[in-house]
Amino acid sequence: MNGLFTFLPLRLRLPHVSFAMAAATTRVLKCDPESITFSDDKPIYSDPEAEKAISSAVDHLTQGQLVAFPTETVYGLGAIALDASAATRIFSTKGRPSDNPLIVHISSLSMLSSLLPASYIPSPIYTALMRKFWPGPLTLLFPADLTRVPSIVTAGHPTVAVRMPAHPVARALIAATGAPLAAPSANSSGKPSPTRAAHVLRDLGTTGRLPLLLDGGTCAIGLESTVVDGLGDDGALRVLRPGGATVEALAATLGDPALGRVLVHRRDFVLDKREEDAPTTAGMKYRHYAPGVPVTLLYTSSTNTDGAARRVAADTLFKEVEDGGAGRVGLMAPEDSPLFARAHGAQRWLTFSLGRRADLATAAQRLFEGLLSLEEQGVRCIYVEEVAEEREGLAFMNRVKKAAGTSLCIDL
Ligand code: TXA
Ligand code: MG
Repeated sequence: MNGLFTFLPLRLRLPHVSFAMAAATTRVLKCDPESITFSDDKPIYSDPEAEKAISSAVDHLTQGQLVAFPTETVYGLGAIALDASAATRIFSTKGRPSDNPLIVHISSLSMLSSLLPASYIPSPIYTALMRKFWPGPLTLLFPADLTRVPSIVTAGHPTVAVRMPAHPVARALIAATGAPLAAPSANSSGKPSPTRAAHVLRDLGTTGRLPLLLDGGTCAIGLESTVVDGLGDDGALRVLRPGGATVEALAATLGDPALGRVLVHRRDFVLDKREEDAPTTAGMKYRHYAPGVPVTLLYTSSTNTDGAARRVAADTLFKEVEDGGAGRVGLMAPEDSPLFARAHGAQRWLTFSLGRRADLATAAQRLFEGLLSLEEQGVRCIYVEEVAEEREGLAFMNRVKKAAGTSLCIDL
């Protein structure tokens, strides 16, 4: 990928028209996270290639351009958060609806203060959460200083979502830029989030709108941060989107229930009707995380099957696939599941292991990777077997339910 060091504005001349075409190739720079350490918040580089990559990324960002970069959750598509026109580019590049607010990424607590009203004092719950989970995969809603944070970033909300990522490349990039970065996941709107640089390149590299991508390897968590709102008067912590920080870990951090209860969206509470109907509020109106081929969720053990379309015997499913025309189908399942054992090596099936059933962190880490790699290998559809809806499995199931157009109950 290092060979793609080109950014070529092209001027095309046709007989009657002359127009500038933003025919830009995405430049990919390797940036080894293991070569970056920190002294306080200042990055120290043991590899000159990484230092040069960060410095080039900072140049792009300060000129109002976008840079895709790795975080420990998924790759992000970053712009300086306080630069409204740069942040606007994020929306056009992703094809993102303008009513979907962006997460702002910081590398220090003083950067956080710069986004919030001077009079704001965090609650004891927030203080405990920041101490435990930052840097890391937890995003908190704060009241925004609306004189500083552009409304394009908050989508007109009075709050701003903030996260301090742990990935050394993300942290170094923010610290070296000296400014908070707005960054959604670096995929076109509606598609699975990228967990490797190659995923970003295949998706946004074709838009001609992404000049620079930092390749920092594979994301360790593999799905997005947990988004929480603890600003309500009742002292509860509302999980708007489950993610890398598990609900169990959040509850354990709050410890004493008197400090606050943890409530999960759609399990323990709903938002008001207008927010619930919005296409973007952790909502179900549009499909999210969906590859270019249909996805079906297979329930194999749970009792709560959320309106699955049909109940079928495993034999019937295998027969339907056999008779279902040319091409192969993908199966993502725990490798110790009976379905996986049966499909593995079978002619019509291409299997992708989600790790062992008890290892929910691995299932979460491999979810987007599996959807994207099976799609790339040309399967005609993808079946994903359920995992337990707890710990990292809660976020896994949240994403699969949104990616899947249909679901089936399988009798094994
Ligand atoms: O792990 C992550 O969170 C990744 C990496 C790049 O940091 N970012 C990410 O961003 O997943 P995005 O844009 O794909 O998801 C942001 C989520 C959306 O569901 C959005 O609606 C919600 O956060 N969000 C952002 N600001 C909000 C706000 N002020 N109020 C409510 N929800 C907000
Ligand atoms: Mg996203």
